[in-house]
Amino acid sequence: MKFFIDTANLADIREAQDMGILDGVTTNPSLMAKEGITGKDNVMRHYKQICDIVEGDVSAEVIGTTFDEMVREGEELAELDDNIVVKIPMTRDGVKALKYFSEKGIRTNCTLIFSAGQALLAAKAGASYVSPFVGRLDDISTDGIELIEQIVTIYRNYGYTTEVLAASIRHPMHVVQCAEIGADVMTGPLSVMLALLNHPLTDIGLAKFLADHKKASNG
Ligand code: E4P
Repeated sequence: MKFFIDTANLADIREAQDMGILDGVTTNPSLMAKEGITGKDNVMRHYKQICDIVEGDVSAEVIGTTFDEMVREGEELAELDDNIVVKIPMTRDGVKALKYFSEKGIRTNCTLIFSAGQALLAAKAGASYVSPFVGRLDDISTDGIELIEQIVTIYRNYGYTTEVLAASIRHPMHVVQCAEIGADVMTGPLSVMLALLNHPLTDIGLAKFLADHKKASNG
């Protein structure tokens, strides 16, 4: 399973990259705003900086909501770097834009997916990735992991090549459950990746190894 980091924070992206576990980055307008990145030139420069750190796909989201705006913005974003994937919201114009980009050979990530029907539409329109939001469904008492399972099954049934990118991942068990189901990618914050490291028996075991080593060396 590929690991994408869901952030626009360059330090977090570098840290995940240095750990050797990073396959790509997803951003969204909220994450860019959180880093204080505003204005077209700054936004474009920031995406380029991200692409220079990571060898992998970098999802950059359009702000426009009409087909023409999405096409204009997406084409500019795609020109920035070969690794840019244009992130398009699941709307009627968004589906048209997915089709347009797929015919032009520009890769896309269809975002804000909350149902299997939406994921089916995105695949039919030729999206490269589809992003179902696991955590946000859990937040409203709906099983986000179940949606990932449904989409993986549907795509396998028909051989769709659209990759299932499990998004809005909030904790390490989400990652493990997505891996068991066969999601192609998960995207989450650095904190979730670091949480995967932890096990109390690892800490206890390491402390014991070091204590025994010290004892033997001193004795
Ligand atoms: C998807 O690509 C989104 O950027 C993201 O995963 C949303 O996560 P959140 O629900 O934690 O904001």
